[in-house]
Amino acid sequence: MKVLVVGGGGREHAIVKKLKENKTITELYCLPGNGGIARDAVCVSIAATDLDGIVSFAQERKIDYAVVAPDDPLALGAVDRLEAVGVKCFGPRKNAAVIEASKVFAKDLMKRYGIPTARYETFDRLDAALAYLQSAPMPTVIKADGLALGKGVIIAQTLSEAEDAVRSMMADKRFGKSGERIVIEEFLEGPEISVLSFTDGKTIVPMVSSMDHKRAGDGDVGPNTGGMGTVAPNPYYTPDVAKRCMDEIFLPTIRAMAQEGRAFKGCLYFGLMLTKDGPKVIEYNCRFGDPETQVVLPLLESDLLTVMQAVTEERLDECPVRFSDASAACVIMASMGYPGAYEKGFPITIPADLDAEVYIAGAKEKDGCLLTAGGRVLGVTALGKNLPEALDRAYEAVRHVQFDNAYYRRDIGARALAAKEV
Ligand code: AMP
Ligand code: GLY
Repeated sequence: MKVLVVGGGGREHAIVKKLKENKTITELYCLPGNGGIARDAVCVSIAATDLDGIVSFAQERKIDYAVVAPDDPLALGAVDRLEAVGVKCFGPRKNAAVIEASKVFAKDLMKRYGIPTARYETFDRLDAALAYLQSAPMPTVIKADGLALGKGVIIAQTLSEAEDAVRSMMADKRFGKSGERIVIEEFLEGPEISVLSFTDGKTIVPMVSSMDHKRAGDGDVGPNTGGMGTVAPNPYYTPDVAKRCMDEIFLPTIRAMAQEGRAFKGCLYFGLMLTKDGPKVIEYNCRFGDPETQVVLPLLESDLLTVMQAVTEERLDECPVRFSDASAACVIMASMGYPGAYEKGFPITIPADLDAEVYIAGAKEKDGCLLTAGGRVLGVTALGKNLPEALDRAYEAVRHVQFDNAYYRRDIGARALAAKEV
């Protein structure tokens, strides 16, 4: 079996490592991958958004199965293109990936089908958005409609911050076309929960829950990042909350998508907030989360390829999906300065006997040595019988992974641990 993974970050490294457990895979490729992934799969430098390049490669190498991991190729229709030449895929088609690619689509879907989410208005004219803000309660949340590398959400504390945000998106085109339409929504409060799920469009199987840490600094301060660490399971996701999510959010969402002629097949990610009125959807992603995947997949006991194929073939109802009841923690080691400017090119040392998994996000190989090449450089994931043990192991391992200018948060999991004491 020849398998191809599209993407090149820590999430793709976690997917590649998990797929490798399946011994029927004889050839495993990653496009473009990175210097660290190259130790586990054959990396070929074709960009994840180069659909022509990906399709030609898949045809030349006679790829049997492709996993498209990042949002942009999914939104561009990578799965449709690969399927058109007979390659089976894991990931939604373009018409379903819109659940992430357009926030206006996602919000309108939730409104039409009564799925709990923040109240909102959408705007495609600057003057109308500015007029609406005059009477909007603060803080308020302003979101660019399209994909914006996770940076298209601004929480404005005051009217003037909100006006600046709207102008930067709609007049200055800070996010290009993505900001031509915007959503202005109610500010919600409560702990956040990420739930990734496998769905074949009819059946939905939630994976173990997780908690991301999006802010750069300890204590959840500083700028938003792609994610500085994760823990799983998320203690706020109690059995009661899980049941409410299944009944009020997960099943209604996949039924709504099917009803709209946009059956979603792949990994559907629910970004949830547990408000005092119950769980509400903050965002949908049409893919595995990063760095949620780096704690969720290590806890998956079932074979990943088998589950993915069941999704593709729409027989997820017959496929057991088991997770360990252990805990996992992932600490992201970034380049000092991220998400702003940072230096790169520093050698990375990882001891061979490290008691943890290392997923490489931003590194390249030079003369047999890994050099830092990105903002988020790598994630160190450890498991434990409970969260404190997983966190101790992850932080112990982090002490032994070294590169110049490394920065990481010291408080990953603190909020989850505090929840357990309540
Ligand atoms: P998103 O890119 O949609 O995940 O948003 C990034 C982050 O902004 C989320 O993880 C939340 O922390 C925050 N956020 C988004 N929408 C809201 C909202 N309506 N109320 C409060 N915080 C929000
Ligand atoms: N960790 C959030 C995301 O993948 O979008």
